[in-house]
Amino acid sequence: MKYLLPTLASLAASALSAALLEPWAVATDRDTQLPLVIWHGLGDDFEREGLQEIAALATKVNPGTYVHLIQLADTGSDDRQATFMGNLTEQLITVCEQLAADPILGSAPAVNALGFSQGGQFLRGYVERCNAPRVHNLVTFGSQHNGIAEFQSCSTGDWVCQGAEALLHAGRWTEFVQSRLVPAQYFRDPAELDAYLEHSNYLADINNERAHKNTTYAANLATLNRFAMFMFDKDTIAVPKESAWFADVNSTDGTVTPLRERPIYKEDWLGLKKLGDQDKLEFRTVPGQHMHLSEKVMEETFKEYFGPTDSSRSSPPRLIEQPGAQ
Ligand SMILES: *[C@@H]1O[C@H](CO)[C@@H](O)[C@H](O)[C@H]1NC(C)=O
Ligand SMILES: *[C@@H]1O[C@H](CO)[C@@H](O)[C@H](O)[C@H]1NC(C)=O
Ligand SMILES: *[C@@H]1O[C@H](CO)[C@@H](O)[C@H](O)[C@H]1NC(C)=O
Repeated sequence: MKYLLPTLASLAASALSAALLEPWAVATDRDTQLPLVIWHGLGDDFEREGLQEIAALATKVNPGTYVHLIQLADTGSDDRQATFMGNLTEQLITVCEQLAADPILGSAPAVNALGFSQGGQFLRGYVERCNAPRVHNLVTFGSQHNGIAEFQSCSTGDWVCQGAEALLHAGRWTEFVQSRLVPAQYFRDPAELDAYLEHSNYLADINNERAHKNTTYAANLATLNRFAMFMFDKDTIAVPKESAWFADVNSTDGTVTPLRERPIYKEDWLGLKKLGDQDKLEFRTVPGQHMHLSEKVMEETFKEYFGPTDSSRSSPPRLIEQPGAQ
């Protein structure tokens, strides 16, 4: 099934049979297949075969799923470059516009969202800052919700990655780096907390860690139906791996403070406690190294989180359903 813009629908009305023009309001006893938005990770791009396969699997597991792969450029190589270089404030604005402008996403009652690695904390930012279209279930894999305390080492010959690393060593807290190097904008070493709070261009803001809290962020995040955070149990690439569960890790002695014991949760700066109190916040584990995802794990995830939803629990009816399409 597919979502159509009301305007498109009215234009096409004469060409469609009456059976196709069924308002949402009368479909309350039927389940709805929400679209799926995917934001890939560092060094990946929307044209990559692996990502295309995951999109195909999403549709295979939940037939009729409209999948949108977020892209920050028109070509795969430029999209990959944008995972290393760019101002996240601007990238997020672009993504908010991209999702709202997509006729199918923009008219769906809600979308599901899947974030791989850094794409996870970016999708969370999307929910906090925009959330139009609204996200129903958010699932993140190996994301750095509490930042990274070390930078990923680049493979030899990977000049984009190496260029990013070089920039980083030029000064992680300078405005120059914070406005250009993507991973620097979610770098968070508790040993450098003051510099982080002062200069972080993304994470300190999106995590509401500064004195002034943005209540919209917490209100928006609390509207999620489910928020599942998957951590890879043998992750040595995203350091610390517990960041995937929003935990705080002391970079000197390795002490892990779980999310539920942190002020961010206890004082509910982000709406996470609200989610937790309703059993909507899930801490899950995947065996293995960072982003080593099996088809089995993906299939189970699609079944569990992105299956058909009871449309009567969704937003007010504003569009039509076209049964049997796709
Ligand atoms: C809070 O975030 C919203 C959404 O991004 C934004 O429109 C608003 O200006 C922010 N408010 C403050 C006080 O920063
Ligand atoms: C990132 O972009 C925003 C929006 O254009 C701008 O206000 C901000 O200053 C930029 N960040 C840095 C660190 O330059
Ligand atoms: C990290 O642990 C060390 C050693 O136990 C301690 O001295 C330091 O204060 C801790 N850092 C933070 C940010 O809590």
